[in-house]
Amino acid sequence: MDEIQAAAEALRRGKLVLMPTETVYGLAANAADSAAVAGVFQAKGRPSFNPLIAHVADLAAATRVADLDARAVALAKAFWPGPLTIVAPALPGGPVCDLARAGLDSVAVRAPAHPVAQALLKAFGGPLCAPSANRSGRPSPTTLTDAIAETGFAAAAALEGGPCAVGVESTVVSVMDGTVRLLRPGGLARERIEVVVGRLTEAENDAMRSPGRLVRHYAPQSKLRLDAQAPLPGEAYLAFGPWPEGPMVFNLSPASDLNEAAQRLFSTLRAADSLAPLAIAVAPIPGWGLGEAINDRLRRAAGFIG
Ligand code: TXA
Ligand code: MG
Repeated sequence: MDEIQAAAEALRRGKLVLMPTETVYGLAANAADSAAVAGVFQAKGRPSFNPLIAHVADLAAATRVADLDARAVALAKAFWPGPLTIVAPALPGGPVCDLARAGLDSVAVRAPAHPVAQALLKAFGGPLCAPSANRSGRPSPTTLTDAIAETGFAAAAALEGGPCAVGVESTVVSVMDGTVRLLRPGGLARERIEVVVGRLTEAENDAMRSPGRLVRHYAPQSKLRLDAQAPLPGEAYLAFGPWPEGPMVFNLSPASDLNEAAQRLFSTLRAADSLAPLAIAVAPIPGWGLGEAINDRLRRAAGFIG
């Protein structure tokens, strides 16, 4: 039996699997199995009011989980498989258990693009809940090594998928009552979504933005100092654009490429953190494209929002 089949079999037995996606590594469980899903919450130390994303192979599978209106279908057709999560009304009697939805009437669905995730979803044959594989509040893992260090103790299998190409989590939108709201900026830039469905409505408040984002998130051990033009003595520095090399300097993208910076964000935060600096100073990052998601993660990691 190959690795994918063995992992699918473990999922059917209620076990957890570390799964690569194009955004970050996830800790996957059978979405229909509340005992397995409870194991995910426990492994992450995640509050049970924070719902999980149900991963599906494609749009057809998503329509068996959620009630997708015309705009949701247009978004799925434009961007799936890929780094977009759609929150929509859950189908009554659908497969995603109450615990995974945190008791809400809505459900989050996403078709990931990574070939290993696709192969696992096809071999398993149903939706898989997979939050980022970090322990709650920590930076998301973008390599299998980092994923194993975070929640490997809870997994029966771990699938190698290489370093994640996108590097930040999916963009989360809700498509309900005829309105498309941005709940979490992420690996698909807002500008690309707005080409398909027009201007996004901002979530009115943080509780709506995402039930689980009220805690400090994505955070390393070290303190973060944002919008820093240069490091102070004792600080590590996350540069963006041309910057001289140095023992505590990490460059998110010497070429000022926001996609590259997103891809390297969490692994670079981990690397800087491992030096135990006085603080991690971070260069200003532009707010367009994937810069919106990068700045969101940095502000949350610094404890400024949520
Ligand atoms: O890229 C990703 O999205 C990764 C990979 C593994 O797919 N997963 C991920 O999952 O980031 P997680 O659990 O770390 O983040 C899921 C986000 C949370 O902010 C959660 O509150 C929100 O989606 N969410 C899930 N279901 C929701 C719902 N019904 N209503 C509103 N927000 C929801
Ligand atoms: Mg997460």
